[in-house]
Amino acid sequence: MPNTTLKKIGVMTSGGDSPGMNTAIRAVVRACAFYQIKCVGIRMGYEGLIQNQMSELGARSVKHIINRGGTILQTARSKSFRTKEGREKAYKNLKNNELDGLIVIGGDGSFTGANIFYQEFGVPFIGIPGTIDNDIFGTDYTIGYDTALNTVIEAIDRIRDSATSHNRVFFVEVMGRDAGFIALSSGIASGAQDILIPEKEDSLDELFKSLYKSEQSGKNSSIIVVAEGEELGNVYDLAKATEARFPDYDVRVTVLGHIQRGGNPTCMDRVLASRLGVAAVEGLLEGKTNLMAGLRSNKIVFTPIEEAIKKHNEIDQELIKVAKILAV
Ligand code: F6P
Repeated sequence: MPNTTLKKIGVMTSGGDSPGMNTAIRAVVRACAFYQIKCVGIRMGYEGLIQNQMSELGARSVKHIINRGGTILQTARSKSFRTKEGREKAYKNLKNNELDGLIVIGGDGSFTGANIFYQEFGVPFIGIPGTIDNDIFGTDYTIGYDTALNTVIEAIDRIRDSATSHNRVFFVEVMGRDAGFIALSSGIASGAQDILIPEKEDSLDELFKSLYKSEQSGKNSSIIVVAEGEELGNVYDLAKATEARFPDYDVRVTVLGHIQRGGNPTCMDRVLASRLGVAAVEGLLEGKTNLMAGLRSNKIVFTPIEEAIKKHNEIDQELIKVAKILAV
């Protein structure tokens, strides 16, 4: 590796936890051990930098975490880091601990923090996209997305057992903040009658038409997957409107919530996190900074952090078409 000036780096998880973050921490720590540089684990994201909560991690200290959900470093959405005073404190601790660079595992909020920190103090960093939402530009998949999808479809399969037994219509709310990636893919994979996401224009009229069509075509139950950011309304409002329009329907609501954030990462998330962890360390060693390591068409790519923050992944129109066709 060309850059010999880098001796010690810090790794942190920041923002919402996602399954596979531990796998990424392990990959970063072990890649550091491989390239013979020191690695320090920073607890609670930027908060740990401000409060000087960090300790050195060796290759063996990350054993048996490859399969564990959550993050051993814990995480936070630090308010103090948003202040100049907080960042000054963080920089002082970073210098005292002789850290030459940072690897930040998180979402766009975490990358924004790292970018401001770089602008102010010149601390080199590489971001690794870790969020279940899959809404980060510069990577086809974020760490945790695949696991969350599998959790969601397992839950919906169970809901369907009850839905078919009672001839019910279920509105199932899934996470994703402002994005509909989880809803669209899990909706297709669980055979949803309709999928409501913020990226497409939905209407109650269309929803009712879809439910009516489903009944007419002989279906005795329906699952409607709704992204939490859906603009037409939340699951409770949608259920109420449906009951008002179809008084004979037996309508129920399930909000899956934080169950989607936990659990053992899938094989796909583990491989993704391992690759991105190694790539991030190698990137820093090569003198790269202000970039996010991601995967595009199964190849490692580095995207300027400003782009990763500002741009958004587009919803694939083909998936919307597939969902529509299969709900016939
Ligand atoms: O960004 C991940 C995510 O789980 C979103 O899908 C969701 O909107 C949000 O975090 C929930 O945040 P919190 O854990 O702070 O309630």
